[in-house]
Amino acid sequence: MSKASRDLKSLANWFERQKRILPWRENPSVYRVWISEIMLQQTQVITVIPYFERFISRFPDVESLANASFEEVLLHWAGLGYYSRARNLHRAAKIIAQRQIFPSSREEWLEIPGVGEYTAGAILSIAENQVEPILDGNVERVLSRFHCISREKGDQKYKDVLWSYARKAVEQGHSLAIKPSVTNQALMELGATVCTPKNPKCETCPVSLGCQAHRDGKQESFPPKKKPKEWVRIEESLFCILRGGSTVQVSEVLLRFRKKGEWRSGLWDLLEEIPKSLVKNSTRKVLGKIETKHVVTRHKIHRVTEVSKIKGTHHSLLTASDDSDLKEYRWVSLDCPEVPLGSAARKTLEAARGLLQ
Ligand code: ADE
Repeated sequence: MSKASRDLKSLANWFERQKRILPWRENPSVYRVWISEIMLQQTQVITVIPYFERFISRFPDVESLANASFEEVLLHWAGLGYYSRARNLHRAAKIIAQRQIFPSSREEWLEIPGVGEYTAGAILSIAENQVEPILDGNVERVLSRFHCISREKGDQKYKDVLWSYARKAVEQGHSLAIKPSVTNQALMELGATVCTPKNPKCETCPVSLGCQAHRDGKQESFPPKKKPKEWVRIEESLFCILRGGSTVQVSEVLLRFRKKGEWRSGLWDLLEEIPKSLVKNSTRKVLGKIETKHVVTRHKIHRVTEVSKIKGTHHSLLTASDDSDLKEYRWVSLDCPEVPLGSAARKTLEAARGLLQ
């Protein structure tokens, strides 16, 4: 048996013994794998699990997802971040439901909104055992270490070499009767649990015998470093306006709907300015300031939110008004705001609840 065959068999055996029990690994239908892979883009497994379970119980198939309103889809997504994923998923569900058939090749999947090379390969191999490679951050780390792949010839060449090793692994595995779903998930799992960025657990690795970086003691030099990110700092200054007490038992918070074209569009968030009618008709007592920090792709966001409670009799006008300026505003329960919120707004409301106690 060649060394490569020995390593692939050893990897597959290790995966069958050690794999984590994850909800999308049970009944890995195309629909479930597709939803899980979209959720897992840029989000950790541990965060995705409860979202996946809630999402699948509300939208058990592509038709139920296609027929739902976008607001409801967003409500089930809220907190996962990167909301364009939810928008693309909903658009994609409508396309697929209309055709009444899932795409069945890499080229067809790549035409679906939100699906790139990695996701296409993952769906086809995990759900359908098609001999298609995958390459995500975990697989990149495993392969770059195993073969000591450098970035010397540029980023494109580096990626091409990685993809060709990923393809070789799944093809060779297949010729040894190892299912593509096993080879690909085993590579990912190894990266997630053993071949970790810091302190890789080489002593428990099923393929350390064939790993070049391990042999040379250079595990931490791979994957080769990219140019450092250029961070964009964003300062946000917001108002968290509360009402409640004698007439309204539960505390309520005033939120604004973020329209198309705005940052966090489709979600509800705190106010950048206080609506004029509110200034005219009420007095505010400032309760405190909340500071939160968030990182989204290249952006480091620092939010400072002033929390205040309003007194006065006319502030309920805001909900009854026909004034189009005010339709984007809504009073919602502070404890249970049943509108889609981003994680930044959630964190702020949680801190505001703390301030009231
Ligand atoms: N990360 C991305 N896809 C995954 C999967 N299918 N299982 C575990 N982790 C993942």
